[in-house]
Amino acid sequence: MTAMTATSSPPVDHATEVSTVLRAVAVRKAYRRGLWPRRRVLSVLEGADLELEPGEIVGLVGENGSGKSTLMKILAGDLLADAGEVERSDSFGYCPQIPVLYERLTCDEHLDLFGAAYGLDPALLERNRAALYESLDFERFADRRVEELSGGTRSKLNLAIALLHDPQLLFLDEPYAGFDWDTYQRFWTITAERRDAGATVLIISHFITDEERFDRIYDLVDGRTVQR
Ligand SMILES: Nc1ncnc2c1ncn2[C@@H]1O[C@H](COP(=O)(O)OP(=O)(O)O)[C@@H](O)[C@H]1O
Ligand SMILES: [Mg+2]
Repeated sequence: MTAMTATSSPPVDHATEVSTVLRAVAVRKAYRRGLWPRRRVLSVLEGADLELEPGEIVGLVGENGSGKSTLMKILAGDLLADAGEVERSDSFGYCPQIPVLYERLTCDEHLDLFGAAYGLDPALLERNRAALYESLDFERFADRRVEELSGGTRSKLNLAIALLHDPQLLFLDEPYAGFDWDTYQRFWTITAERRDAGATVLIISHFITDEERFDRIYDLVDGRTVQR
């Protein structure tokens, strides 16, 4: 587990650490824009809490602009909170809302790059790569550069990168926004399989159509999380 603390570090309670994959307490974040005297502060998170256990699919739902992506960036360590505490598993994958891909690299080259960054041995990388091409149905684009790909295929690659090392915890920010119906079904098969194997999946969605697919749902309202 990695502890990240924006303020002073309270002692870690190892008794509650055992089965918790992620624990976020009283997370606060404001964005500051402009310069004095026109300085504006937009407070987005006002003490958000979130706790995830092994083997569950959890939804994080809220209106556009409610702070879902901000909270996920903080959980993934991409953005620093102003206050609060986040503890999470070191084994995680993050699929950001806006894919971070290299226009000039192919799908295969992306998976090579991230496989190396995750420290996967070559045999495991090949196995996981083949399984993801098959389950997301985009092997025919393996040698295509990102600049040639449609939005839907970019989203598949973005998701495949997060899944590549078979992490214990997955952060997925509106992962199926660009998917067609077939890919949407494939997405749920993959996430349910990972969950059943013990992984934890946090999925951001700005509305929920398939509530029964989630084990739990948090609504983000006025900068705080409320469990349904
Ligand atoms: N880097 C930033 N600088 C300033 N304001 C931001 C920044 N990122 C997000 N915001 C603002 O913070 C609010 C929450 O954004 P976001 O977390 O992306 O919401 P959501 O993902 O729920 O749509 C929005 O009003 C957005 O415009
Ligand atoms: Mg968002």
